[in-house]
Amino acid sequence: MCLGLLLLPPCGSAADAARGAIVAKVRCSPCHHLDAPSTHIGPSLLGVYGRKPSIEGVPFQEWSASALDLWLRNPRAVKLNTKMQLPPLSKRDRQDIIAYLAQQADSLR
Ligand code: HEC
Repeated sequence: MCLGLLLLPPCGSAADAARGAIVAKVRCSPCHHLDAPSTHIGPSLLGVYGRKPSIEGVPFQEWSASALDLWLRNPRAVKLNTKMQLPPLSKRDRQDIIAYLAQQADSLR
């Protein structure tokens, strides 16, 4: 159901990068640096949106929104032996994280 509540963004509105920053801090930063180019448990996510994968074994030319969405839905469905273990994220969380990563990559250009 879709309630068009006053003062809230309309239903089906664009992903929320500011919310995505918070979700990413909670869900990704245990293993990834978000603001520094250095590797933590996984590669840095700084500027990852739109760039070539730095990891082996993923069938993508670049980390586009659709590639990231597939990856964040289930990394193992993309790369069977990946070490990235991610408890499921809601669609909203995925969209907001991707919006955040896109905005962050934009700001580096
Ligand atoms: C438990 C640790 C862990 C968590 C949590 C985690 N990752 Fe990862 N991530 C990894 C590891 C390890 C790799 C390298 C995987 C490989 O080589 O197969 C990786 C790889 C990646 C890559 C590929 C990067 C590149 O340079 O090609 C992306 C994109 C990514 N993770 C995004 C995320 C996002 C976004 C989140 C939060 C929603 C997240 N990860 C949460 C461990 C994690």
